[in-house]
Amino acid sequence: MSESHAVAVTDAPLVCVSGVSKTFRQRGRTVHALREVDLQIGRGEFVSLLGPSGCGKSTLLRIIGGLHQASTGTVSVNGLDADAARAAKQYGLVPQSPALVPWRTVAQNVRFLTGLHRGGASHPVMTDAEIDGLLEAVGLAGFTSAYPHELSGGMQQRASLVRAFALGAPILLMDEPFAALDEITRADMRYLLLDLWSRIGTTVVFVTHSVTEAAILSDRVVVMAARPGRIAAERTIDLPRPRNPAMEDAPEFHEVVRFLRSDLREHHG
Ligand SMILES: Nc1ncnc2c1ncn2[C@@H]1O[C@H](COP(=O)(O)OP(=O)(O)OP(=O)(O)O)[C@@H](O)[C@H]1O
Ligand SMILES: [Mg+2]
Repeated sequence: MSESHAVAVTDAPLVCVSGVSKTFRQRGRTVHALREVDLQIGRGEFVSLLGPSGCGKSTLLRIIGGLHQASTGTVSVNGLDADAARAAKQYGLVPQSPALVPWRTVAQNVRFLTGLHRGGASHPVMTDAEIDGLLEAVGLAGFTSAYPHELSGGMQQRASLVRAFALGAPILLMDEPFAALDEITRADMRYLLLDLWSRIGTTVVFVTHSVTEAAILSDRVVVMAARPGRIAAERTIDLPRPRNPAMEDAPEFHEVVRFLRSDLREHHG
């Protein structure tokens, strides 16, 4: 293999969505949830799907994760189709609500599911000490033996975030994970997520309605439009990393937000 070929292989996208369309039948009506979506996501990249309600963000995330079948088109993840990638435990899913197991403590929630994953994981997952380090990093060191009902929603979401990273899956699919949190907690969670992402080097696909959230977090924002659901624009966000709350006051940040807002407005049906 030539050196240039080796470089090309390393740089190949981790996720490749090609010509994906999805239609649903709703009471005799056909809904075009997605039409002709092409998207490539690089290894370690943080990509957000931004768009109005109903534009197909969750549908696209679920198709990438092998939870929905595309009507036409293909998804390839590391050379596998989405079903095979799911079976090979390539994905961690962070849903909108934390979904912790109620009768297990925080530590058990994180370790139990990690343990389940260990069998099939194709790469090393975290040791207990590393997991403890992450729980400490998100401010839950004193709560490892608490049960989910003893925690606030924000604390549960932090535990859920640690669990997702602890699974060791190379791709995290996050569907509006912070939507139910208050504004201050939500702001904190964004930077916690970035901290975990940069330490662990996971690839993240993050669904959000929030323009500022997309701007703070992402390497690239994919702006979607509805009826039919499609990709309307893509923006590379070249704000420096690591990002921090002070950055949100900078003119460059406001400019990114302005561009994203105008993309959304331009394609609003
Ligand atoms: N299981 C389903 N059965 C029928 N129609 C569906 C199904 N899932 C999604 N749809 C339709 O597909 C379209 C896209 O839905 P989707 O949930 O992907 O949107 P979204 O961008 O995630 O919206 P939101 O921001 O409100 O979560 C909508 O018109 C929705 O009604
Ligand atoms: Mg959705």
